[in-house]
Amino acid sequence: MKILMVASEATPFAKTGGLADVLGSLPPALVRLGDEVGVVLPKYRVTEAPGAEPVWLAMPLWVGPHGYTVDIHRLIHRGAHYFFVDCPLLYDRPEIYGTYPDNHIRFALLSQAALGIARHLFRPAVLHAHDWQAGLVAPYLRTTFAGDPTFFGLHTLLTIHNMGYQGNFPAAAFADLGLDPGLYNPGGLEFWNHVSYLKAGIVWSDAINTVSPTYAREIQTPAYGSGMDDLLRVRSGKLSGILNGVDYEEWNPETGPYQVAHYSARDLSGKLASKKALLAELGLPLNIQRPLIGVVSRFADQKGFDLVEGIAAWLADQDVGMVALGSGQKKFEDMFRQLAALRPEKFAVRIGYDDALSHRIVAGADMFLMPSQYEPCGLSQIYSLRYGTVPIVRATGGLADTVDEDTGFKFVEYAPEALLEAIERALQTFAQRESWIVRMQRGMAKDFSWDSSAAEYQRLFRSL
Ligand code: ADP
Ligand code: GLC
Repeated sequence: MKILMVASEATPFAKTGGLADVLGSLPPALVRLGDEVGVVLPKYRVTEAPGAEPVWLAMPLWVGPHGYTVDIHRLIHRGAHYFFVDCPLLYDRPEIYGTYPDNHIRFALLSQAALGIARHLFRPAVLHAHDWQAGLVAPYLRTTFAGDPTFFGLHTLLTIHNMGYQGNFPAAAFADLGLDPGLYNPGGLEFWNHVSYLKAGIVWSDAINTVSPTYAREIQTPAYGSGMDDLLRVRSGKLSGILNGVDYEEWNPETGPYQVAHYSARDLSGKLASKKALLAELGLPLNIQRPLIGVVSRFADQKGFDLVEGIAAWLADQDVGMVALGSGQKKFEDMFRQLAALRPEKFAVRIGYDDALSHRIVAGADMFLMPSQYEPCGLSQIYSLRYGTVPIVRATGGLADTVDEDTGFKFVEYAPEALLEAIERALQTFAQRESWIVRMQRGMAKDFSWDSSAAEYQRLFRSL
């Protein structure tokens, strides 16, 4: 079957978070199972795709009244066709998701380009849109191009990676999109006097899924639905949850490309070497008996670091080290900076985005902390399991689905005391070396490779 995906990021070309990991690894997994897969991405300034070749020069596209001429470049990567939409006017900017006034046009063009590619270059059976950035694919297909025989028989799937990012734009943006004015109503893509790209995708796609079974249930409740839970309940017959897989070629302690030392569940000596190297790199004392907690994350409210703030005083007095790598909201960057300033012999922070360091942290830490408020799937805890780095997580979304009490430590209530209690349990278990190692090994044996999840996507595509 031929599938054309549409998304805003994919490894190794451009990445800000887990969405990119999925678009870099699900397509090759489907290819291994026999499907033909294309992926449509913007070509940003930061995009690195050496070897991509032009396959269509000067494709004319329209977003409402605005005409664009774009080039399409293609790179075959691990068997999948990655198409890059080259429109410097919209994408050649310092940031991928900066607060640009024309973001609604930037991502409307992405959907139009995907339909252009589906028409001329790669004719799929299913158009598979990811997140709000691809939310207009289905409404353009079902309204603007409704009578177009090129697209007869084409079906659409929307995968929601995060309900918290909805692509909501002021009502005035609607006039730029070239959609039928009748679509701007509460049963269509209007959402609290805004144009909502995510809502548009939910309303017009043939099926919707999200990235873990638990999150698929959670988003149908007011606490997790970000205002769209009622709509999702109405569409619940079309909504499913498919757990993300991970790419163990990139995230493998036995072969991983970024590592100081390789190791496996049978021979953990390389993990100790990784910890020593990490402590040295961070300028922390070489106290290998002391447990080291790792954090690698976007610093957004979603990730729950206000709970860490709530236990900071307690944490500072424990015999524990911590390293945090991330960037995002200043209040969280400052909180980690203050912790490091308060106890420089225990805590280290690196503000920024650093792939190689993220791997060294996952390898070198003893525990990995993800106290998320909500977590659609979460990949870092899965990487940590494979690295024998025991996750401490809040039991929500994909964290609840991937971490067990015998591979990690979970807490339920979103409260600092609950986090503290989970860390306390982790520290007590760490002190019992043998049961700690058993726990590490159980986590390392878990298999979240794409094979079974990609097969679930195949079943979903075919059910359409
Ligand atoms: P989310 O997509 O919500 O950010 P995930 O756990 O699904 O959460 O995926 C996060 C991905 O981004 C992981 O691959 C993680 O290693 C990576 N990542 C997040 N922050 C950083 C950072 N500061 N430097 C390097 N990699 C990061
Ligand atoms: C989103 C979610 C994260 C998920 C990722 C990939 O960024 O926040 O939980 O793992 O998408 O699906």
